[in-house]
Amino acid sequence: MAVVSTSLSSYVALSCCCLMAAATLAAAAASEPRYNAMFNLGDSTSDTGNLCPDGRLLLTGVFGIFARPPYGNTYFGKPTCLCSDGRVNVDFLSQALGLPFLTPSLAHGKDFRQGANMAIVGGTARDYDTSAYTGYDVNLNGSMKNQMEALQRLLPSICGTPQNCKDYLAKSLFVFQLGENDYSLQLINGATVDEASKNMPIIVSTITSGVEKLITLGAVHIVVSNIAPLGCYPMYLFIFQSSNKSDYDENGCLRNYNILFNRHNALLRISLSKLQKKHRRIRIMYADLASHFYHIVLDPRKFGFKTVLTSCCGKADSPNGFDLEALCGMDGASVCHEPWGHLTWDGMHPSDAANERVANGWLNGPYSQPPILK
Ligand SMILES: *[C@@H]1O[C@H](CO)[C@@H](O)[C@H](O)[C@H]1NC(C)=O
Ligand SMILES: *[C@@H]1O[C@H](CO)[C@@H](O)[C@H](O)[C@H]1NC(C)=O
Repeated sequence: MAVVSTSLSSYVALSCCCLMAAATLAAAAASEPRYNAMFNLGDSTSDTGNLCPDGRLLLTGVFGIFARPPYGNTYFGKPTCLCSDGRVNVDFLSQALGLPFLTPSLAHGKDFRQGANMAIVGGTARDYDTSAYTGYDVNLNGSMKNQMEALQRLLPSICGTPQNCKDYLAKSLFVFQLGENDYSLQLINGATVDEASKNMPIIVSTITSGVEKLITLGAVHIVVSNIAPLGCYPMYLFIFQSSNKSDYDENGCLRNYNILFNRHNALLRISLSKLQKKHRRIRIMYADLASHFYHIVLDPRKFGFKTVLTSCCGKADSPNGFDLEALCGMDGASVCHEPWGHLTWDGMHPSDAANERVANGWLNGPYSQPPILK
């Protein structure tokens, strides 16, 4: 009996001690983030304000809608120039990692020591003049090369000398999410899937060289996202609609477009695993946005969604809730009652709820190999 009570009391003492240790660890995690900063390169899916640096909207063309209500309705309560009803995927990474929301790199007079976001609407891996693209009236200069230069311009104010920066950036999280527009810009301007696929090797090698450039600057932890199955997005379903049923897969997505993006993703994965073998010290995380979205399209309810092929905000009575004549933010568009039940917000970009899912899949798996928090 005595033995039992002794071991019981030592068990109680032990678990108290463990709880205290756990509490101390949690406090340490809360006060000291896992990464000292985050840096993101991307397009409209992760732009956190470069479209409107210092409150000045750079586009006056069609896509000025991104600065209008009802963008921002779900989370910020007002438009903040983000292509979402709330947050974009990096916002959820910031929140989970205990970092502030990313400051857009084009903003002036800001402190970038905890991170900077170079992503901008229309961003591409290859050099591309967005003013040549339907819906844009200026060149937003959002190519990877320009985003990389913007990052390098900021580095002295973030970490000082190149040697100091190597140490600093080794403890930062990098996110690289470019490539979708490299295809969309071609396809929407009239290229066939075959024509667009001819540029695939150069698009993939441009992305890979960009990731390697980050490594040269000192990056150690790099998340690289693949491309979403845009053939399931309302914008694609509207622009490339077909009367031939065999152009659609069993989920109602445009088959050939998704085959194109799947091939890009397969090639990207091979290219990144070669890069990983070359730089064994570096942690390249392959962020599998595509598999995540396919799983959601296959079984929306399992992931908390009700509608996957229809946009929440847009022309409600048109197929897929999308029409270029009545885009979200234009006259003739309306907003659904349950934005969180929709995979896409405006038919072109994931909803706040989808972005949260994406970020969680990257942080904890299984949609990043390895997961960020592994
Ligand atoms: C893009 O770069 C060009 C050339 O430097 C410049 O003229 C133009 O104003 C830039 N676009 C924006 C939106 O800043
Ligand atoms: C429909 O598409 C399939 C596959 O792309 C093609 O073989 C077929 O000829 C098309 N049918 C028509 C009526 O265009």
